[in-house]
Amino acid sequence: MAEGTTYSSVFACPHCARPLAISASGAHCESGHSFDRAREGYFNLLIAGRVARSATPGDTAESLSARRRFLNAGWYEPIVTSLRDALGVVNGPVLDVGCGEGYYLSHIDAPAKFGLDISKKAVQMASKQYPESQFVVGTSFRLPVLNESCAAVFTVFAPHSFDEYKRVLQPGGTWVTVTPGPHHLVEMRPKRDEKILEREERRAAPPQESDDAERVQFTLHLTDEAAHDLYTMTPLQFQASSAEAVHHVREVSVDVWVSRSTLTTHVK
Ligand SMILES: C[S@@+](CC[C@H](N)C(=O)[O-])C[C@H]1O[C@@H](n2cnc3c(N)ncnc32)[C@H](O)[C@@H]1O
Ligand SMILES: [Zn+2]
Repeated sequence: MAEGTTYSSVFACPHCARPLAISASGAHCESGHSFDRAREGYFNLLIAGRVARSATPGDTAESLSARRRFLNAGWYEPIVTSLRDALGVVNGPVLDVGCGEGYYLSHIDAPAKFGLDISKKAVQMASKQYPESQFVVGTSFRLPVLNESCAAVFTVFAPHSFDEYKRVLQPGGTWVTVTPGPHHLVEMRPKRDEKILEREERRAAPPQESDDAERVQFTLHLTDEAAHDLYTMTPLQFQASSAEAVHHVREVSVDVWVSRSTLTTHVK
């Protein structure tokens, strides 16, 4: 984008990919597709039928409130610090793919901030809490975002597509991902069966697509409330065969990769 550009939006029409003009009441493209602004301020850019409902099994209202309480209490602050360091100074629009209830985006400095998540409930919460950012419902595998429109894109613990990152990033733009390392929340896992050991092996290295990566590791000494929130907010609850035992864990390892790549050209 040229210098002096106003960053009204990076969003594209999910039907025809043309730019979306955004106003107080709604958004529309030149082909005549239009989208109402929801009461909380977000837009729903997910085309019905494109993604199965089962894509968001973890996003109950209960798990979202637990995540908001846990994150706002600062337990994952070292992850925020490392994410900010990896992004560096952001001079243009930043997009949080799989933004959840908006915590990480709210901690990033940028002239314009955009968040996307497939969960309507998450986007409602994000939009209500952080009106300075524009949120939309959409899928990370087919971002309703203009080509070469973002100075930075990032994802924390959510599905993402490196091809889509490359498409939406400006030349020289940066992407950052936060993904679990091999020992992430290991104490909360019910049992290290073969499947889990295989996954640990995969997580021993950062994503191949990254230029560099920092491994962030620390131990949480949780309060009862925080332990309950952490348990409720993670998809681990779907793996736990002995929920009772997991509830008593108070010392938990955090182990994540904060990985980054800066595009020089679109061919890597
Ligand atoms: C573990 S949560 C992380 C949320 C947030 N980044 C955070 O760390 O607090 C995973 C998020 O990915 C979202 N998600 C799952 N599939 C998605 C998809 N295909 N496109 C966009 N978001 C998706 C979920 O709705 C959920 O909010
Ligand atoms: Zn359109």
